[in-house]
Amino acid sequence: MAVTIRRLEEFDATEGFDCGDEPLNNYLRRHAWINQQKSSIGVSYVAVDEAAPGTVLGYFTLAASSIPRDRLPKKLVRGLPSYDLPLILLARLAVDKRFAGRGMGRALLAEAFRISLQVADEIGCRCMVTDAYRDKISWYAKYGFVPIDGAGENGPQKMFLDLRTIRATLQNS
Ligand SMILES: CC(C)(COP(=O)(O)OP(=O)(O)OC[C@H]1O[C@@H](n2cnc3c(N)ncnc32)[C@H](O)[C@@H]1OP(=O)(O)O)[C@@H](O)C(=O)NCCC(=O)NCCS
Repeated sequence: MAVTIRRLEEFDATEGFDCGDEPLNNYLRRHAWINQQKSSIGVSYVAVDEAAPGTVLGYFTLAASSIPRDRLPKKLVRGLPSYDLPLILLARLAVDKRFAGRGMGRALLAEAFRISLQVADEIGCRCMVTDAYRDKISWYAKYGFVPIDGAGENGPQKMFLDLRTIRATLQNS
């Protein structure tokens, strides 16, 4: 299967997408396009099978955000000013159940990193943050995301990734 990852288009067949999580399905079906095209508050990227154009295998959404400096680890923010720091929010990430466990999540994350590094070069930004489901914390940790202290016990866990870590990994690979 030849998979391409590209920006969400209006014609993409999002209705059949099923990652097993209704809020994430619903976001793609109902909100992703409007948020991207009309509201400009997040851009979604979809993995599609080139042989079946328009069928979404997985997606992620990126948005700009910021975080109070004191929520990030001291080591990361040493020497930085005391105001809120800009970041790239990995707002959504999901793979259709039929294609899970085949490296699609990893490929989507790699593309999110690539875009984030590009954006960070253009506008200045040090980290990526995501709100990880509790049962996905270890999945994100495999790629270098670190939990940020102070999260509630039941809700999603805020995790951050220093973009310089990714850049260094890419440069050394
Ligand atoms: C999380 C998700 C995006 C991963 O996508 P995927 O395509 O199945 O993941 P990949 O195939 O790239 O990665 C699979 C690897 O992660 C491992 N893995 C799977 N679930 C894991 C978990 N909860 N914790 C740690 N590792 C996990 C697998 O063992 C496999 O390891 P390997 O590469 O060493 O064999 C997908 O499961 C999903 O969409 N889930 C439902 C929606 C969701 O929870 N999104 C995250 C919101 S925070």
